Amino acid sequence: MLSTILLLLGVAVLYCSFNIISGLRVNIAAAKRSGLPYFVIPISPWNRIGQIFNKIWVPLFKKLPRKYWQDIEFILNTNWQYQENHKVFARLSDAFLIVSPGRIICFTENAEALHQITSKREAFPKPTEAYAILGQYGQNVVTLEGAQWRMHRKITSASFNEKNASLVFKESISQTLGLINMWLGPDGLGNKTFKTIEQDTASLMLNIIANIGFGLKILWPGQEFPADADPRLAKYATQEAPEGHTMSFVNALARTLDYLILLLVVPKWMLRIVPSKRAKVALEAESNFVGYLNEFLQDKIEDVRKGNNSEGLDIMGALVRTSYGDQPENGSATTGSGKKGPQIARLSDSEIIGNAFINIVAGHESTANVLHFAIVELATNPASQRRLQQDLDNILGDADPNTWDYDAKMNLLLGSMVGASINETLRLVPPVVDIPKMVSPNQDQPITIEGQKYLLPRKATIGMVAIASQRNPRYWPTKPSKISDAETDIDDFVPERWLQTESTKNETTKVEGADTEDLGGYSGSDTSAQLYRPPRGAFIPFSDGARACLGRRMAIVELVSALAVVFQKHSIELAVDEWANDEQVNGMSKDEKAKLYRMAQQSSRTTVKGATSVITLKLHGNQYVPVRMVRRGEERFVNWIDS
Ligand code: HEM
Ligand SMILES: *[C@@H]1O[C@H](CO)[C@@H](O)[C@H](O)[C@H]1NC(C)=O
Ligand SMILES: *[C@@H]1O[C@H](CO)[C@@H](O)[C@H](O)[C@H]1NC(C)=O
Ligand SMILES: *[C@@H]1O[C@H](CO)[C@@H](O)[C@H](O)[C@H]1NC(C)=O
Ligand SMILES: *[C@@H]1O[C@H](CO)[C@@H](O)[C@H](O)[C@H]1NC(C)=O
Ligand SMILES: *[C@@H]1O[C@H](CO)[C@@H](O)[C@H](O)[C@H]1NC(C)=O
Ligand SMILES: *[C@@H]1O[C@H](CO)[C@@H](O)[C@H](O)[C@H]1NC(C)=O
Repeated sequence: MLSTILLLLGVAVLYCSFNIISGLRVNIAAAKRSGLPYFVIPISPWNRIGQIFNKIWVPLFKKLPRKYWQDIEFILNTNWQYQENHKVFARLSDAFLIVSPGRIICFTENAEALHQITSKREAFPKPTEAYAILGQYGQNVVTLEGAQWRMHRKITSASFNEKNASLVFKESISQTLGLINMWLGPDGLGNKTFKTIEQDTASLMLNIIANIGFGLKILWPGQEFPADADPRLAKYATQEAPEGHTMSFVNALARTLDYLILLLVVPKWMLRIVPSKRAKVALEAESNFVGYLNEFLQDKIEDVRKGNNSEGLDIMGALVRTSYGDQPENGSATTGSGKKGPQIARLSDSEIIGNAFINIVAGHESTANVLHFAIVELATNPASQRRLQQDLDNILGDADPNTWDYDAKMNLLLGSMVGASINETLRLVPPVVDIPKMVSPNQDQPITIEGQKYLLPRKATIGMVAIASQRNPRYWPTKPSKISDAETDIDDFVPERWLQTESTKNETTKVEGADTEDLGGYSGSDTSAQLYRPPRGAFIPFSDGARACLGRRMAIVELVSALAVVFQKHSIELAVDEWANDEQVNGMSKDEKAKLYRMAQQSSRTTVKGATSVITLKLHGNQYVPVRMVRRGEERFVNWIDS
């Protein structure tokens, strides 16, 4: 008996070893054929089990002679894209392969390669299995590929047009005014240190996305429900739980997003039995949230049946209209294929919910992070903040934000320091640092870099390391750094670099076999031709091509309006409480104040460097940059300090 077990075990071990070794040999052969530099690692950095057992196999791996691991040691750090970014590629090559027994990964920061990859969706599809968990409330435009994705993209992209963008502009302005009121405090003076800027920008973007996604109107403390809004929505507007729920909508949504990974990865039955407060809150939030989603869906179906077509922002409502409006028989949603009648693509209820959910996930934290970092960087770089305010004075004067006209102001703002600051933030701290793609499983795919052809192995995973190309000095105008002893200012926040008229020296070459079909999403320019245009592929915070971010224009509009509202009549200063209290500051000479602010700047830069990427790049853990909001003219530092 025992000997049989031992024999079976021996066979199993042999079989596994054989598989591992032959897998590795096949993959190394493919890597050799590719013509790209490659590095061998025993377990793929994207292998979940490998990640869990890092502490066991990594030390063993490092027992090998140095030359086998020193080049790729970086990859064991799950945050390497942000921490090392371009430096890795400068050292190894701007495209290289990581080969393990189970997988080949191609990491690249090369703009030419990135442009080709994003231009050919069928040759370089999305590795959808990595996104599968995002489909658990319903399949959607992010989790699908192929014909199904195309249908979802066509239907969902209908909401993302300029008319709706102007509604986003209005809602963002109104929401940002609510946020400012909270920051200024009851006396309206501001001048109080707060440490919650990351959470507050997240609340702001949540309120806005609740409006974009469902047509809801969420209020800040002290605000009143507007008379012209749908009274049926009043019960969702506050922090109080309406009947049938134990959490308010925003609360349920925020907590669900907080615990998203936990909820998506750990089975529900396990969450129910573990005696943990987090598991309890997560489950409660999710069940509330799913309850709301179903409630909204039913309400909107009801509206369509009654012919009550509300105008305004409400992506879920628009999806329901596509599925339930004007059709011979209602109720049964189909994909339109092979059914009688006209071939209209329709989403099922679960797909409507799935897409409503994914727009919130995709559109909430990403936009909040960019706003958060943009504000922090502007506080850390007072000269840029002043230039931005000058532009705002020229474009908007002191007109009440509620009266700003989208058509008249948007492009002016985009062409100013406002647009430049957003671009510069997206360049330095893109929410998605490394965008996953893969090589089609059918065949190896050629790419051309500087006239040289390479062959990417079929099935290989691709990491498009946006943050590295965006910090590669080859693609950007640079000057010597003013704040460090680095050769260039490529790693510094210098929004002014976007405003120069010198355009990129390298024209983008046409990609052979590029996608031509327009599947929706914003394709217009974000601003005038005067501004710096990096080579195609070098700046991809929203990805590019057929699978580029659907919400790009919405995100830009939200960010432009929020920054304009914040800085039109206020300034944001780094708080210096850590080193001096208000009384001490009041008694300081200019030199002493400048020195004091430099400490705060140093500290802010160090904190931002500590950001980590968990789904999106932000300050995780207990990190924050403390700031103060003051009315313009009442600044202590940023109205005169140099850099
Ligand atoms: C600054 C804010 C944002 C950034 C940096 C950003 C970035 C991205 C990136 C990099 C992708 C490609 C992801 C991938 O290929 O895996 C993407 C896809 C997507 N984004 Fe955004 N996003 C932002 C805001 C938004 C907003 C506000 C919405 C919706 C309201 C949105 C909706 C989507 C959707 C639906 C997709 C999937 C498109 C597809 O696969 O066809 N995003 N976004
Ligand atoms: C967006 O625009 C379209 C077309 O102008 C309109 O039908 C729709 O109701 C608007 N709102 C949403 C959320 O799609
Ligand atoms: C139709 O919608 C409006 C607001 O969008 C609401 O005030 C009204 O009660 C709705 N009518 C019906 C019949 O549901
Ligand atoms: C749509 O469905 C509802 C409820 O199932 C039904 O009462 C109504 O008659 C249907 N409308 C049409 C046009 O079939
Ligand atoms: C931001 O970058 C985009 C993409 O290159 C460009 O179209 C736009 O002009 C830039 N905006 C500003 C203000 O420089
Ligand atoms: C741009 O062109 C110059 C000269 O032809 C070349 O040296 C440089 O590598 C090119 N840069 C890019 C980003 O292609
Ligand atoms: C901010 O408040 C502190 C203490 O309350 C005061 O000393 C300081 O002068 C104020 N600054 C401004 C600009 O009002």
